[in-house]
Amino acid sequence: MNNSECQILAITNQKGGVGKTTTALTLGAALVLLRRKTLVIDLDPHASATIHLTYYSDTQNEKVVDIFLKDEISKEEILGLIKRDKRHFFDFIPGSVKLSMVEGELREKKSKGLSLKKTLSKITSYYEFIILDCPPNFGLILINALVASTLTVIPIQTEFLALHGLKLTFDTIRMLNRVIDRKIEYRALATMYDQRIGACRRVVEVLKRTLKEKMFKTIISVDSKFREASARGEIIYNLYPQSRGAKQYLQLAKEIVL
Ligand SMILES: Nc1ncnc2c1ncn2[C@@H]1O[C@H](COP(=O)(O)OP(=O)(O)OP(=O)(O)O)[C@@H](O)[C@H]1O
Ligand SMILES: [Mg+2]
Repeated sequence: MNNSECQILAITNQKGGVGKTTTALTLGAALVLLRRKTLVIDLDPHASATIHLTYYSDTQNEKVVDIFLKDEISKEEILGLIKRDKRHFFDFIPGSVKLSMVEGELREKKSKGLSLKKTLSKITSYYEFIILDCPPNFGLILINALVASTLTVIPIQTEFLALHGLKLTFDTIRMLNRVIDRKIEYRALATMYDQRIGACRRVVEVLKRTLKEKMFKTIISVDSKFREASARGEIIYNLYPQSRGAKQYLQLAKEIVL
């Protein structure tokens, strides 16, 4: 496999609580179910994905900052950060509160937006997909993830306030498009959809009208099984493989793979 075969998916939205972490973990597992070698990296200092997978604070987790800060980090060092647990399907690099110091330290560096891309290029030959679970706030972690990505997946909660919050995310993409040598590719994913609610249906219509082919056809419904799986430290496919949410993320993975 050569490097060009690895897709790097940054899961971003500068609004909080829209389903980024749920998408990173569930889509990651769905891609593995489709037999794609997948790595998920928790880039959020809040480390929700890490806590979900029950890798509670561990000094080893703090080494995740090396993927941004350590010049000339070796392939072996990066691979050494990876946790493998069959229960979680994918390979995983845990996050840590220490990621909050990346911002200040990176600011002093030259090409500060390229650190993650450079690091990931050393391991892309091992994976078909690398998924980056991003923090909701604007900063150098988010910029690095967008620059490293081959596709940015933007989960959008199907409610009107979410449309307003979306402007920030598109402003960031437009700003980066002016300074890097390619356009940031993105696709939006409607999440937490409840077809019984008219406001949800109208938001999906607005999204389809404005984003057109930039919207995934798959729409993720609201499904209480996600919260239950997360409270039990499990991926939804282990507990509720037949649930609506589980099937829809599998559908999303097929849309991405095709
Ligand atoms: N489709 C869904 N149906 C029901 N609940 C969901 C769905 N997707 C996510 N949730 C729940 O909504 C909450 C927020 O989701 P999640 O943590 O994935 O969002 P986030 O965008 O990563 O948040 P943050 O910006 O804080 O990192 C969680 O409790 C999660 O279990
Ligand atoms: Mg999150």
